[in-house]
Amino acid sequence: MPNEASPLTIAAVGCGSRARTYLEIAVGLGDRYSVVAGADPVPERRETLQKISNNPEFRAFESADELLAEDRMADVAFIGTQDNYHFEPAKKALEKGYHLLLEKPAAQTLEETLELTELAKKYDRKILLCFVLRYTPFYSKVHEIIRSGQLGDIISMHAHEGVDAWHHGHSYVRGHWAKTGESTPMIIAKCSHDTDYIAWLLDSQCKSVSSYGRLSYFNQSNAPEGATARCTDGCPHAAPQGGSCMYDAHHYLDKQERWLRMIYPHPTERTKEEVAEWLKTCPWGRCVWKCDNDAVDHQVVNMDFENGSTASLTMTAFDCGRALEVFGTKACLRGGDEHKVISGHDISIRDHESGDTKFIDLDEINDDGYQGHGGGDFGLVNAMDAIFRGEGSESSLIENSVEGHIIGFAAEQSRLNGGKPIELNR
Ligand SMILES: NC(=O)c1ccc[n+]([C@@H]2O[C@H](COP(=O)([O-])OP(=O)(O)OC[C@H]3O[C@@H](n4cnc5c(N)ncnc54)[C@H](O)[C@@H]3O)[C@@H](O)[C@H]2O)c1
Repeated sequence: MPNEASPLTIAAVGCGSRARTYLEIAVGLGDRYSVVAGADPVPERRETLQKISNNPEFRAFESADELLAEDRMADVAFIGTQDNYHFEPAKKALEKGYHLLLEKPAAQTLEETLELTELAKKYDRKILLCFVLRYTPFYSKVHEIIRSGQLGDIISMHAHEGVDAWHHGHSYVRGHWAKTGESTPMIIAKCSHDTDYIAWLLDSQCKSVSSYGRLSYFNQSNAPEGATARCTDGCPHAAPQGGSCMYDAHHYLDKQERWLRMIYPHPTERTKEEVAEWLKTCPWGRCVWKCDNDAVDHQVVNMDFENGSTASLTMTAFDCGRALEVFGTKACLRGGDEHKVISGHDISIRDHESGDTKFIDLDEINDDGYQGHGGGDFGLVNAMDAIFRGEGSESSLIENSVEGHIIGFAAEQSRLNGGKPIELNR
């Protein structure tokens, strides 16, 4: 591992949206990081990462296999491929001696996730999971408040994840995470963040999980009359025909244009004409009620923890943003997106004895240009070099942060069994 004076070197396995996001931040941090290689079958993505790297010696490969066939060329391999292709390159990279920055979910099954944990131990490598929410000013502050004891003992917690209706259609109906068999179930793909921070905040193992949820809305029976298979097929509800469907794929050309950055083959260059043509054949041009999706659009999870706390999580396509309520013996904390809309503050803490409420506004505490996932993308990258050098908190290393995956996979098992509680006998 390099010392503080030399940059941490990174090779990207997958040059997609996440790779670009993290590595752009890393390069922006000056001499601390150097991006030395990238693998991706899509040439435009390799080229874009090469540009981002600002490294004339950047090495480009057409696949993970090609990159990982070479001798180790960096301290850290970033595994940023899709959910169904994490385990294999992660395992190979560990065998080659890389430390890993591994996108969540770690793998498609709990067994593979636990195997990676064992392999990290076997090869004495670190696997840092990209649980970016832990690195946001908001969740770091909540963690600090809970640990300070000012809420007293935490008796229960409710977490809320509103995916946002358009985002849901984009990712979990038309997009990469729509078919659970080819990806991971919603409660893992999206909410492993939530089950992770719940376990992190409660600092306890979960002993039992139950869950309900289903796909209620994004299916054929809710398609408006006359809707065509693709928005571009002359659908009467689409904008060119004077329609006003909120899921009309033509919105990728105007108000939802920012989503193209994550899915369009060329990450940075495109014309409206090219995109309009592409929508005629790509998955994102399909009617949201006529896709082959099976990911749920709402799910609830109940959790019972070893330390006596209980927690619940609601995931819904039909709200926008995360929110949290923490019920302690001395005070109750509320915070998050909806809380801010209603109260005008990031966090409120109501003391049970005095009845007084105090407000915390994070902008005043932390106003240093955080962006992406509430500042979590920057926070993770900013913390990463110290963590890999053994000088930072080890709480997000896989062996210390696998609980969220254990809960998520159990929740899916429960959901598929009609909500039957899953006992996590450990
Ligand atoms: N931490 C977070 O908050 C967060 C947010 C979004 C996505 N994710 C996760 O990050 C991962 C990547 O998501 P993304 O949105 O960047 O996806 P993406 O589709 O933009 O990127 C994946 C890239 O992998 C490439 N690829 C495919 N096969 C490959 C191979 N054999 N070798 C090398 N590269 C290959 C693809 O061409 C693509 O460019 C997913 O697992 C996703 O669930 C995490």
